[in-house]
Amino acid sequence: MTRTVHLSLDINTRRHELDVEPRVMLLDALREQLGLTGTKKGCDQGQCGACTVHVDGKRVLACLTLAAQVEGRNITTIEGLVAGNGDLHPVQAAFLEHDAFQCGYCTPGQIMSAVACIREGRAGSDEEIREYMAGNLCRCGAYNHIVAAVREAAEMA
Ligand code: FES
Ligand code: FES
Repeated sequence: MTRTVHLSLDINTRRHELDVEPRVMLLDALREQLGLTGTKKGCDQGQCGACTVHVDGKRVLACLTLAAQVEGRNITTIEGLVAGNGDLHPVQAAFLEHDAFQCGYCTPGQIMSAVACIREGRAGSDEEIREYMAGNLCRCGAYNHIVAAVREAAEMA
């Protein structure tokens, strides 16, 4: 018989109750059990950044984080960035304005990293942005536009 644990996860200011096997990663719990498919699965082994979310305001890779590890913490996914009135987060708006994506698969992870980059004061120059965002890969090569979007959002913050 498969053992499960009951978890209460606070995601995007809403509490979710779920039963999962102890080995289930946060990424799979988000996507497969909670329907929060904005967080993407790329490599599933910590190499691409597509699964980036925030836990207590810090970015983490959801594919390397057990769901059971984040009980009692505040989790934010890309779905949680939009304001209550439907307005896009300034970083989302900057990505749109700068065409900072092509296929869009890496974009939620890029945006979650960018929000953390700006919040942590690591967006002072293009070099600094590139360094902080180095773990977020983009197969479409939209890097220059991504950096431009982060720079503008940082300037407006
Ligand atoms: S899916 Fe998590 S780092 Fe690639
Ligand atoms: S926009 Fe396609 S992978 Fe980044």
